[in-house]
Amino acid sequence: MCGIVGYAGHRPAVPLVVEELHRLEYRGYDSSGVACVQQGRIRVVRAQGKLSQLEQLLSQQPPSTATTGMGHTRWATHGAPAVRNAHPHTSNDGTMALVHNGIIENYLEIKNDLQARGYVFHSDTDTEVLVNLIQECRKSEPDIQKAFAAALNMAHGAYAVCLMTESEPDVFYAARMSAPLILGVGTGENFVASDIPAFLPYTRRVVFLEDGEMVRVTCSSYEVRKIADLAPVQARVETIEWDVQAAQKSGYRHFMLKEIFEQPKVIRDGLTGRLSADRGGVTLHELDGLPVPSRLSIVACGTSSHAGMWGRHMLEALAEIPVQVEIASEYRYKEKLLFQPGEMVLVISQSGETADTLAALRRARECGATVLGLCNVVGSSIARESDAVLYTQAGPEISVASTKAMCSQMLLLALMSLYWGGRKGLVDSSKCSAMLGTLLSLPGMLEKALPEMHERAITLSRKYAQSRNFFYLGRGHCYPLALEGALKLKELSYIHAEGYASGEMKHGPIALIDSTFPTFAICLNDELLPKVKSNIVEVQARQGRVIAVTNAGVDVPAEDLWVVPDVPSTLAGFVVLPAVQLFSYEMADYLGKDVDQPRNLAKSVTVE
Ligand code: M6R
Repeated sequence: MCGIVGYAGHRPAVPLVVEELHRLEYRGYDSSGVACVQQGRIRVVRAQGKLSQLEQLLSQQPPSTATTGMGHTRWATHGAPAVRNAHPHTSNDGTMALVHNGIIENYLEIKNDLQARGYVFHSDTDTEVLVNLIQECRKSEPDIQKAFAAALNMAHGAYAVCLMTESEPDVFYAARMSAPLILGVGTGENFVASDIPAFLPYTRRVVFLEDGEMVRVTCSSYEVRKIADLAPVQARVETIEWDVQAAQKSGYRHFMLKEIFEQPKVIRDGLTGRLSADRGGVTLHELDGLPVPSRLSIVACGTSSHAGMWGRHMLEALAEIPVQVEIASEYRYKEKLLFQPGEMVLVISQSGETADTLAALRRARECGATVLGLCNVVGSSIARESDAVLYTQAGPEISVASTKAMCSQMLLLALMSLYWGGRKGLVDSSKCSAMLGTLLSLPGMLEKALPEMHERAITLSRKYAQSRNFFYLGRGHCYPLALEGALKLKELSYIHAEGYASGEMKHGPIALIDSTFPTFAICLNDELLPKVKSNIVEVQARQGRVIAVTNAGVDVPAEDLWVVPDVPSTLAGFVVLPAVQLFSYEMADYLGKDVDQPRNLAKSVTVE
């Protein structure tokens, strides 16, 4: 998964493209590059490392006067992070340049064929293969658009690509197949990008390109066509409601910190317009036309799967719907997908573009299942391919580590539980008003609590930053939060961390405990408290140090207590979640790690 941008307009293209790439850097940041046509020739500048390296290189060269250009920020798939593998890649005849996000699965086959025809390759990438395939196609089809389509029709896999040629210096072409690509429609200028924030300062008018579509773009026009036969497509222009401010740091040190602190707003926004007098007190029009599922398979990856695990408790308790949660990369390859009558699949994805989740959705639909999508990114592939979609309305999440998205997913799962429970007549008015009362009180409570929680995270991170291993323990609805805490710590601070159901410790993992191996235990004042306390005592008996997230007045035998506000048991996850997020954030920042762009990761995993 990489970030691509294309621009045709009236402004100097290269600085604008670099500016856009900055807003996509979360998608990949091991190398970057730009291309334009300068004095009749394709000009490409590429650099290894972060965008600042590219900027430095560009500053040493004469500025470009081109007003059409394209760029790329890379997360390596084919080939190591290196200048030779950085995009744009050029054709052997030097007349074309291509940037690409995704994977061309049959690239080796095509490469062998091109090599036999005398083509030479300078990189390890599938992108260089594709641009040379376009060159080859132009031999029989000089029209660029037709040659581009012909090459794409031979390539299998997932891609979003952008092409520039010497012969049309003020034009770029772009196409998508199973990778995000959005057209931005401006005044006297047009854009494409892998994500909307790239061009949001310049236009809010967008066309969500569909899989199998390509577009020819100039400063004053865009024509969308089918890749298969170049049939014209009537593009629908939509207006983006959120603003640039939502995609900026607003004074926070990192996007991650800003996004953690946005969680009260996420809950408030998520509740807006969703409360009603009936159906468990919740209105979810998106689900009105569908029956209540008899069973539910929740399919997701990473943090989204932890939200799904958390939601399972709510759905089972409130709506009495049996739920299983599956990792998308496993689910998509199950030998058989077995569905009972009335069973549905719920796919959860912040980006709506995660390759494994999208493939799982497609497989489930092929097998006849009704698929519901829970997504943040409006118009994303998962959103569009689901039978019904619920949007989490969390606003753009820029930090690679997912934070507010999980909060918004949990909120929607709680609302779905109430809604379906209401439709089944299981949620009486007192239960309903208690739950909604708690949900409505959460934003205010969190707004008050977050600054103090942040302080606690700072203190504890200084004490524990030298640890090389961590356990995270939780039971019941806190078990998914333990998994999430461990994931956050690993991905941000590169400290080894494992999440366990507290009761599992004595079945093996406890063998690892000693004074250098601390445990982060979630130990709330609920019916499982005595059990979790026993598990903590077992850890301490092996000289393990314990940080316990708990409630005021609870007697927990831990070295460090972290008291969070009291929230009735099932919804307490909404205050535990920022605690585990803030702890990881502070650990990583204190250790000097790149919080928003951790090594080896990317925001949207659009490859397998
Ligand atoms: O966009 P998605 O929710 O489908 O992404 C799923 C995971 O890739 C994502 O949650 C990942 O685990 C995050 N880096 C976690 O912080």
